[in-house]
Amino acid sequence: MKTHLNSSKLFSATLFILTLLVSTSSLAFDKEAGKKKAEQVCASCHGLDGVGIIPTYPNLAGQYVDYLIKSLKDYRSGKRSNAVMAGFAATLTDEDIQNLAYYYATLKDNRLPVLDLK
Ligand code: HEC
Repeated sequence: MKTHLNSSKLFSATLFILTLLVSTSSLAFDKEAGKKKAEQVCASCHGLDGVGIIPTYPNLAGQYVDYLIKSLKDYRSGKRSNAVMAGFAATLTDEDIQNLAYYYATLKDNRLPVLDLK
C-alpha cells in the first residue's frame, strides 16, 4: 500500500505540534508559589483552604482558573470595583495572579457544590 504523507504535510504537522508546545509552555503555573503568596496575602480572608473566614469573603476553592484570573485582573484594572480587593490586586503581577488562581482552583475538597438547575 502506498502512503500519501508527503513532506509538506509532514512539515505542517510538525510546525503545528511545535506551536502547541511553545504556546502551552508560556502559560506556566507554579502552584507552590501561588500557595506561598496566598499564605502571605490572601489567607487572612479567603483561608489557605479557599474557604472565606466569614461569609462576606467569597470561597475560592475549586473556582474555575480563568474566572479567578479574570476577577483579579479586573480588580487590578478597576473594571471590577471593590475597595478591599483593589488594594490587594494592585500589588500582584500577572505571574502572581496566574499562580494564585491555579493554587485556589486546584483545591477541589472545599469547592462549592454544583448547582443542579433544571
Ligand atoms: C481583607 C480581606 C481580603 C483579602 C486579604 C483578600 N481578599 Fe479577595 N475578596 C475580599 C472580599 C470582601 C471580596 C468580595 C469583593 C466583591 O464583592 O467584589 C473578595 C473577592 C475576591 C475574588 C472574587 C471572588 C468571586 O467569587 O468573584 C477573588 C478571586 C479574590 N478575592 C482573590 C483574592 C486573592 C488572590 C487575594 C490575595 C492576593 C485576596 N483575594 C485577598 C476580601 C479579601
